[in-house]
Amino acid sequence: MTPPPARSGFEPSRDPSSAESADLAQQVEALIAREGPIGFDRFMALCLYSPGGYYARAPRIGREGDFFTSVSVGPLFGRLLADRLAEWWRGHGRPERWRILEPGGHDGCLARDILGQLEDGHPQAVSGVEYALVEPLEALARAQRATLDRHLAAGRVRQVDSAESLAPLPGALVANEVLDALPFRLVESTGSGWNELGVGPAPDGGLAWCVLGPAGGDATALLPRRPAGYRTEVRTRLGDFVAPLARALSPGLMIWIDYGFDREDYYHEARTEGTFRTFREHRAGDDLLDSPGRRDITAHVDFTALGEALAACGGRPGGLEPQARYLTRLAEPWLRSLEGRSDPATLAWVRQFQTLTHPAQLGARFQVLEAALP
Ligand SMILES: C[S@@+](CC[C@H](N)C(=O)[O-])C[C@H]1O[C@@H](n2cnc3c(N)ncnc32)[C@H](O)[C@@H]1O
Repeated sequence: MTPPPARSGFEPSRDPSSAESADLAQQVEALIAREGPIGFDRFMALCLYSPGGYYARAPRIGREGDFFTSVSVGPLFGRLLADRLAEWWRGHGRPERWRILEPGGHDGCLARDILGQLEDGHPQAVSGVEYALVEPLEALARAQRATLDRHLAAGRVRQVDSAESLAPLPGALVANEVLDALPFRLVESTGSGWNELGVGPAPDGGLAWCVLGPAGGDATALLPRRPAGYRTEVRTRLGDFVAPLARALSPGLMIWIDYGFDREDYYHEARTEGTFRTFREHRAGDDLLDSPGRRDITAHVDFTALGEALAACGGRPGGLEPQARYLTRLAEPWLRSLEGRSDPATLAWVRQFQTLTHPAQLGARFQVLEAALP
C-alpha cells in the first residue's frame, strides 16, 4: 500500500544550498583543527542544530523530504491523539485553562491536526487550551507560524524557545520522534570497559573517527559487559531535556512516541553496531561523518532510560506499547462510526489508519510511552 501524499505545511527549504552545508562542514573541520577532537554528541548537535545545520534549515518531512513520520502520513494521527488529550482533560475536572505542550513540533502540522480535531470534536476543551510549542530554531518557529496562523490569531498558540519559561498548568505533552533526534554519545567496548568515540581531523583534511579516551561512568554505568568492538549510543542528558517539560505540566500526561526498545533489547549482544542511521532522500545510511548538515542523524530511544528520567521528575510511566495497539484503541469509536461506508473520502482515511498501524509500515516501528505527572 502506498502511503498517502505528504501535506505541505510550508514552502520547502530542503537543502536550499549546498554552499551553506559546505560552509558548515568547513566550520566543523576548522573547529576540530582549532580545538582538537570532539565528542560525537557535540558533532551531531553542530550538524543538526547550529546555523546552517540540518534542522536549522527547516527541512521538509514526508514524500518530498528525507523521511516520513506519522505526522506526514496525514491528519489522522493528530486527530486520534486529540481524542486522547480531550479524554484526559475530561478526566481531570475539565480545567478552564490547560496546556498542550509539544517539543519538536517541526512545521506545526501535528499542532494543526490536534487543534482541528479539538475544534470539531471537543469544542469545550479547545476553548481554554494553550498549545505551547517549544522550538529553539527560528526557521522552524517561522514555519509553525505559517501553518498555525488561524490558531495564532485566535490566541491559542504560544511559541517558546525553552519550556523553562512556562509556569505550570494542567495539561498534556505530545512528543513524536523528538527523542531520536537528540544528540547521543558513541561508545565502544574494549572487552573490560568502554571508550568514548569522537570526531577528529583526517590526514587528508577531512574528518575521521578517533578514540577520545575511557568513557565516563555517566555514559556506561548501566551498560552490560560486551565483547571488544561492540559499539552503541548513549544519551546521558535525557533528564535535562525532560525535566523542564515535566515542570510545565501539573497535573499532567506525557505521550512519548518514537522508535526504540527497553534497555535489555537496546544493548542486546547481537546489536553490535548500535542503531544509528542517517537519512537523505528516503535512503538510510551509516556514515555519520558524511556531508555534515546535509542529512538527518538519528538513533533509537532507550525507553528504560526515558522512564527513569520521567520517574526522577515525579512522573509515573506506564508500559511501552506498539503504536499499532495504542492508536487502534484510540480509534475504536471512530472505526465503528465508519461501518458500512465506502466513499472515497472514508477510504482515504482508512488508508492513513492502515499506514499508521500496519506492522509492516509504522505500526510496529514506533512505540508509545505514556506517563502521568502529579
Ligand atoms: C524527526 S523530527 C520530527 C518532527 C515532528 N515531530 C514529526 O513527527 O513530524 C525531530 C524534530 O525534533 C526537533 N528537536 C530536536 N531537539 C529539540 C529540542 N531540544 N527542543 C525542541 N525540538 C527539538 C527537531 O528540530 C525536529 O523538528
